[in-house]
Amino acid sequence: MADAGQAAKVAPAAGRPRRDILGRLFGNPALVARIARVPGLRRLARREAEAIFGLMSGFVRTQILAALVETGVIEAVLEGVDDPGTIGRRCGVPRERLSVLLRGAAAMGLVRFTRAGRVRPTGRGRLLFAVPGIAGMVRHHAILYGDLSDPGAFFRGGTDPALAAFWPYVLGGGAGPMQAAAYTRLMTDTQALVAEEALRLVDLGGVKRLLDVGGGSGAFLAAAGRAYPALGLMLFDLPEVVAAAETCGGRIAVHPGNFRSDPLPRGADAISLIRVLYDHGDETVLGLLRSVREALPEGGQVVIAEPMSGGDRCPDPINDTYFAVYTLAMGTGRTRTPDEIARLLEQAGFVDIRHRPGYRPFIASTITARRAATGQAATAIGAETVNLD
Ligand SMILES: C[S@@+](CC[C@H](N)C(=O)[O-])C[C@H]1O[C@@H](n2cnc3c(N)ncnc32)[C@H](O)[C@@H]1O
Repeated sequence: MADAGQAAKVAPAAGRPRRDILGRLFGNPALVARIARVPGLRRLARREAEAIFGLMSGFVRTQILAALVETGVIEAVLEGVDDPGTIGRRCGVPRERLSVLLRGAAAMGLVRFTRAGRVRPTGRGRLLFAVPGIAGMVRHHAILYGDLSDPGAFFRGGTDPALAAFWPYVLGGGAGPMQAAAYTRLMTDTQALVAEEALRLVDLGGVKRLLDVGGGSGAFLAAAGRAYPALGLMLFDLPEVVAAAETCGGRIAVHPGNFRSDPLPRGADAISLIRVLYDHGDETVLGLLRSVREALPEGGQVVIAEPMSGGDRCPDPINDTYFAVYTLAMGTGRTRTPDEIARLLEQAGFVDIRHRPGYRPFIASTITARRAATGQAATAIGAETVNLD
């Protein structure tokens, strides 16, 4: 099931500096103008210009997407309503504005027009809204974009982002049942993809009992339980979250608690942290990893899965923009490189630290490590990089 052979010992390759010849050429506007006149090279100049324009206009595309969701236009199109007049009346969007919105959606590859002027969803349009949680994420992004409305002040640290209030636990506080339900729903909806990626990367074949810390509604455990029918399942999360968790007909043992102040339950030989570390600052993460170590038997395994940074040399186009800024807006979070996570693991007393890059790293990559036996020296991080991908 999991192709766990594709492990890279952490730290991953720093990557050799790429000689950015094109980058230097494109730094010279006069040269670019000359290149644009040369057949064959024109393509390169155009691609670069489009990339620059794409950066400038990305916000508008995002807002077109948000408007498609908020007005119900995309829902109508997906339901098969294909007459723009009917869509406009149903969604309360005047004809001329709807025409701009739909043409924008067509330019973004989400819908297409037939010769007769009917609107149909494209494969991408269908897929986008078939993936559970995407519509919810699009709606929820209003909070993040509100926090970024003064980006200079945001990066200078002069704003008070509202996103932290959506995730109240990041500041150490508890969540009300409504708040907990809102963030847990958002997480559960997107969990299927994360679980699929994590279970593809990590082989739990030898594990007897898995404890998922910060496991929310239990969606990851349910997926792990389906993949490994004999696996024992334990869930640990805040009381207000586990109160509404799925127990898979009693198969999941539920443990309410706060990992900042309570010890983790014992009895599992593997502990997973799925999209948990990047919510928190280093001190909290180190404390949590030490608790994980305490709860594991010698040789027990920790499994970490979340989107990770590519670092300064190989920044990831999604994780080092979207997730890095998102976790920054949360107030305490940080999108870490595998190397940074490995250092925290090492400090907490783990060895045999292995990074498995996800094939969709914006969904998750994984790091596994084992609790060191008493007296066992920590692994030398960065000593070897074996990427079998
Ligand atoms: C970003 S969500 C991830 C949920 C789930 N693992 C997933 O990937 O869908 C982080 C989870 O950690 C839990 N959490 C945060 N702080 C916690 C704490 N101090 N003690 C226990 N659970 C905590 C939250 O309640 C939430 O369910």
